[in-house]
Amino acid sequence: AVMKEVFDTRTIEEELQKRLDVEEVHVVPGDSDEFSWVKKELGRSAVSVMKRKLLPDNNVIAVTGGTSIAAVAEMLVPDADLKEALFVPARGGLGEQVENQANTICSTMARKAMGSYRLLHVPDQLSQEAFDSLISEPNVQSVLKLIHAATMVVHGIGDARTMAERRDTAPDVLKKLEDGNAVAEAFGYYFDADGGIVHKVTTIGLQLEELTTIPAIIAVAGGSSKADAIEACMKRAPGQVLVTDEGAARRILNRG
Ligand code: BG6
Repeated sequence: AVMKEVFDTRTIEEELQKRLDVEEVHVVPGDSDEFSWVKKELGRSAVSVMKRKLLPDNNVIAVTGGTSIAAVAEMLVPDADLKEALFVPARGGLGEQVENQANTICSTMARKAMGSYRLLHVPDQLSQEAFDSLISEPNVQSVLKLIHAATMVVHGIGDARTMAERRDTAPDVLKKLEDGNAVAEAFGYYFDADGGIVHKVTTIGLQLEELTTIPAIIAVAGGSSKADAIEACMKRAPGQVLVTDEGAARRILNRG
């Protein structure tokens, strides 16, 4: 029975890798929509990918918020290579609760890995005036420089509607998402099923175009409810590594 399970996972990974046309796919057993331990396994799997993708030195690891990346942070342990790593949030405030914010996750990762970190203190829902003055702060500018020089990005993917609700999105934006058939969200960008940008949340940090120059991009997202979202997001960044679960994988593959 064990052999069969191993074999099945491999097959699913290969099929998914072809279907999504991404560089590498890892599938953990189970569905994180159903069981919380599956998300922990996503975290564990993502950590091993991170370690393998580290550059020999000067690693700058940009991370997003969300419960999946929080699970990655929980699984990190001190490691000779990670000790030298610098963790930064990928983007500024995107409307998450503190425990799921990129800043929080970034500091947890640094603590667990015994690396260092820099934070980006840009809250969400700022007036344009406050925003403009904040981003010209020297401290913010220096963190932005690091983000733009990231060597690795570890990010979550959300279902568009779920994320919009979680962020208390204004009615006019909700309408824009609906009219534009947004199905996915990553980095504060909302995408339609073809990977086209429907909307972008106002904040600073990593821009989508920059992903093409970052050596390692690792997406961590599972649960059958994220099938559409994952498929849409993967159309944006074909060079990615995807760490997902059986629930999402089977839903994507069974749609033909
Ligand atoms: C958010 C990120 O914090 O987490 C989003 O800003 C991402 O880009 C989302 O889609 C994923 O959340 P979760 O909890 O489903 O991992």
